Amino acid sequence: MTQDELKRQVAEAALEYVVEDAVVGVGSGSTVFMFIDLLSSIKNKIEGAVAASEASAERLKKHGIRVFDLNSVSELPVYVDGADEITAHLHMVKGGGGALTREKIVAAVAKTFVCICDASKLVPVLGKFPLPLEVIPMARGHVGREILRRKAQPVLREGFKTDNGNLILDCHGLTILDPPALEAELNNVAGVVSNGLFARRGADVLLLGTPEGVKAYKKKN
Ligand code: 5RP
Repeated sequence: MTQDELKRQVAEAALEYVVEDAVVGVGSGSTVFMFIDLLSSIKNKIEGAVAASEASAERLKKHGIRVFDLNSVSELPVYVDGADEITAHLHMVKGGGGALTREKIVAAVAKTFVCICDASKLVPVLGKFPLPLEVIPMARGHVGREILRRKAQPVLREGFKTDNGNLILDCHGLTILDPPALEAELNNVAGVVSNGLFARRGADVLLLGTPEGVKAYKKKN
């Protein structure tokens, strides 16, 4: 099976989690794009969607799915998004597409976070995928030095601006043994808008695409 076939499998499986007559939260990335395309087949059964990126909002609108501003929505039963890395504890590294801040906000509002990804994303320890930080432009140097102090290498994502007008520093060489602690620590560095660790609010369900079919993992309480 190709990686795209694995992604499609989980995108399809995620439709089962969409709540009828409600607004669904939608993340970003290629797996989520497949989910959006499939969501169009049940668009008459939902009220609409909240999107975590401009690109996802545009794709939803192209399919004729109503896009709501998050501030006009009081309840979001389900949020569907991908990940760059995920552990069996359902802690994630996200932000490969640079939409981490809005993804974190929508995830914070949602009752259930359904993560969809192919089997290559499941890892024993986070950090091989460079950890993205969204950074206010004037803080680039300061944040970079703070990352170097932590024995990691910050690399500016060249020619990239987030939907919020900020920069992304991709941090290489981290071995993340305590994801919730590092997430909180990096949030405290002045100039960091948010970081790509989704551990304090991780996923509730992981739908993992494997050649043997979709495997579902649930958060242990
Ligand atoms: C974007 C993300 C994406 O969810 C992540 O990069 C996975 O993308 P893909 O489905 O293309 O592998 O966090 O900011």
